[in-house]
Amino acid sequence: MIVCKSEREIEIMREAGGIVAEALSITKEIAKEGVTTEELNTRLENYVLQKGGIPVFKGYRGYPKSICTSINEEIVHGIPDQRKLRDGDILSVDIGVEYRKYVADAAITIPIGEISEEVENLLKVCEEALNKAIEAACANNKLSEVSRSIQNHVESQGFSVIRDYTGHGIGRQMHEDPQIPNFVSKELLRADEILLQGMALAIEPMICAGEYDTEVLGNRWTVVTKDRKLSAHFEHTIVVTENGAEILTV
Ligand code: MF3
Ligand code: CO
Repeated sequence: MIVCKSEREIEIMREAGGIVAEALSITKEIAKEGVTTEELNTRLENYVLQKGGIPVFKGYRGYPKSICTSINEEIVHGIPDQRKLRDGDILSVDIGVEYRKYVADAAITIPIGEISEEVENLLKVCEEALNKAIEAACANNKLSEVSRSIQNHVESQGFSVIRDYTGHGIGRQMHEDPQIPNFVSKELLRADEILLQGMALAIEPMICAGEYDTEVLGNRWTVVTKDRKLSAHFEHTIVVTENGAEILTV
């Protein structure tokens, strides 16, 4: 069941989203060659706590850290550790914050030092796909149109859409209905939903340069592309309104 949020609830989610957005903007400043992902985790965790938020990933199904840091062929759920960022890496940072009982969730993928034009394009296409999906997330549109806008853009640019992980509804819980696939399937069309004002959605295209097959590493969290080709991930929490979507994680 998809729970629509009241204006009062959305107001709180805006505040949660603001903390997430600021954490990601700190990430852009501090994620440099030589910095460890553990250092990023500590810095962002402290920031969130200082703002009165709770880093909601920590403890979620036993997840050990406050953020996810996924490097290169890692798609999502990379665990911060002593690994140092290197010149030419691409780093996805994903963070979810609970604030006054409501959650906001967002992610960016950023270059560390110099990356090639091709890799820059992978990041650009993923972010564009997210923006197109947000444009499609308007009241009275269908959920599948959000998914389709992502798939169309990504595949038209020669990249693949990850199929094994999806976006999600969000609110009191980090994961609420509906699931938001980044591609269109028969199942999605069968269970399609009309978007209504007040639905809060975490839209998160995960795309890759090679094939879309995934694998989970031995740590039981980190998801990588099977062919070990590069992957990018962008996410915003939005709320559906009568005249388009409002991004909460800004
Ligand atoms: N944005 C991701 C998601 O929606 C992050 C969850 S990471 C976890 O699933 F550690 F909390 F699982
Ligand atoms: Co999410």
